Amino acid sequence: MDIGSTQERGQWGSKLGFIMAAAGSAVGLGNLWKFPFLAGQNGGGAFVLVYLVLLLLIGFTLMMAEITIGRFTGLNAIGAYRKIKASWAWVGSLGVLAGFLILSFYSVIGGWIIAYIVKAATGTFNTADTKMLGDMFTNFIQSSGTPIFYHGLFMLMTLGIVIGGIQQGIEKYSKILMPALFGMMALVVLRSVTLDGAMEGIKFFITPDFSKITGGVILAALGQVFFSLSLGMGCMITYGSYLSKDTNIPECSLIIPLIDTGVAVMAGFAIIPAAMAFNFPVDAGPSLLFITLPAVFSKMPLGGLMGVIFFVLALFAAVTSSISLLEVCVSYVVDEWNWTRKKATLIISGLIFAAGIPCSLSQGPWSHIKLIKGKGILDSVDFVASNVLLPLGGILLCVFIGWVWGLRRIQHIRKTEEGETIITWELEYTDALKEATNDGKVNFPMATIWVFLIKWLAPVAITIVFFQGVFS
Ligand code: PFF
Repeated sequence: MDIGSTQERGQWGSKLGFIMAAAGSAVGLGNLWKFPFLAGQNGGGAFVLVYLVLLLLIGFTLMMAEITIGRFTGLNAIGAYRKIKASWAWVGSLGVLAGFLILSFYSVIGGWIIAYIVKAATGTFNTADTKMLGDMFTNFIQSSGTPIFYHGLFMLMTLGIVIGGIQQGIEKYSKILMPALFGMMALVVLRSVTLDGAMEGIKFFITPDFSKITGGVILAALGQVFFSLSLGMGCMITYGSYLSKDTNIPECSLIIPLIDTGVAVMAGFAIIPAAMAFNFPVDAGPSLLFITLPAVFSKMPLGGLMGVIFFVLALFAAVTSSISLLEVCVSYVVDEWNWTRKKATLIISGLIFAAGIPCSLSQGPWSHIKLIKGKGILDSVDFVASNVLLPLGGILLCVFIGWVWGLRRIQHIRKTEEGETIITWELEYTDALKEATNDGKVNFPMATIWVFLIKWLAPVAITIVFFQGVFS
């Protein structure tokens, strides 16, 4: 597989390879860091429930749509839109902007993970005292130089992989490291849920309190579905473009969100019960992962070592996501502006690094700067990218595939002899549906529902949530 070269387009070695690489893009800081703190801030079980509903209805639908467009055209996001309908290429550009913004703050958090590998390895946080751990974390992110240094290091790692074309790397490593992450998470969950006082957190995480569900909570959950599944910015279009013609797209589109959600829910169980057991506020926000988990490790046999292994795997999960973010930007510039891959990667990474600096400083010296809805710089960039640009990309994707490229359900109305009216639906096998089902060879009993979801339910639901959440 060679992501990046447009002349020689490689292919994933196997279906498993594709699933692992796509899951590699999906599983990242969104699952380990963002999901638990969003759940903690937005009512626990209420958020989880809304998340799961949106995931099934919208996540699955759009995942299939992106992979289908990607495989049909064999191109990056912009090229793909252009090939089907030239006037829609700008939608792909919106995705590039989203990728740029997301990576600028993603890399800052990725840097925190690297710093925590070092802290774990040097035994710095071998304590269950969350007050101390909290102070340590705050002092670290509030300083100016060190987090920016680690942010640079994370960008260098991302750049190093993308510059060479992604070659066999992602596929090969994803197949080993993704299952390793899963196993490691299982151990941490086991420790967390068996701590004294963990029960309260488990209840908080699984019991939906419907009074907590507001427009803002639904938008946060929707933004997280897009962010976590890498949807709405053409990333899965790019990955789908390397997929072989005989792979079962509906099946992959279901498995990838399942793996992604599995990791997110495990992270929730690893962090929230422990936070409550240690009397640490679950709505603490972005700091949750970095304070609660070290406390859990200190309570585990071989905790120091476990901490190192965990943060190394978290770093790997973050890097398999960050390369997909950078790749969307780089492939755009290479294809559209004819830059060499090396020049594109270096310049864009430099710009993203620069854009990340204010995000990093907003945790300390620049914390007084509030941009959107009282949020600081990092949170505002996250809000614009995840809760505005990605859903917007999602709405446009639905309209594009459902109405422009074309998915049609034909209604047949028949009257029985008794005078009863019977309405049946039949799908017309347009290019989009042919591609999604391998020319009708793949058994996809949900095809009618999928077409309905993509033409009506998903775009309407995303639009409503979007306007309610953004303007509330
Ligand atoms: N899905 C990644 C995560 O959950 O960490 C983040 C991400 C990667 C978002 C790629 C969007 C994207 F295109």
